[in-house]
Amino acid sequence: MNVNRRNLISLAAGLGASFVTLGITSASAASASIEVTRSPSCGCCSAWVAHLRQAGFSVEEKLVDDLAPLKARLGVPNDLQSCHTAMVGGYVIEGHVPAQEILRVLAERPTATGLAVAGMPVGSPGMEMAGPSERYDVVLFGANARQVFARY
Ligand code: CU
Ligand code: CU
Repeated sequence: MNVNRRNLISLAAGLGASFVTLGITSASAASASIEVTRSPSCGCCSAWVAHLRQAGFSVEEKLVDDLAPLKARLGVPNDLQSCHTAMVGGYVIEGHVPAQEILRVLAERPTATGLAVAGMPVGSPGMEMAGPSERYDVVLFGANARQVFARY
């Protein structure tokens, strides 16, 4: 692991620290640390963070009042925006994305900016409520393209 990791670090030096922390061995949640930025008053954000922790992610929370500048800087399209914005393994995770889809994107490593669940669909992780769940798409997005990564 040490030798491989050293190689990875030199390879990935230009790509940012989050890429390196993931390591090369696997995309298991135990090895993935995710940074979640949310507003201090967001209840559903905390519920989503709990969902991530339950799936084994190590979560670091950053509390900010205005997430708009971060979303703009990270390239989250306006129509895909939600309450919180996270970073893991070089990917942006916007909104109530199920943990298993985050693990899948980390395992498959498609060329993309990240994954998003637009808005706050009822029944998505962190948005559990009484009554029927809404259907929603997990969207893989980049600067100029997007595709449905999963449907719920
Ligand atoms: Cu939310
Ligand atoms: Cu949120």
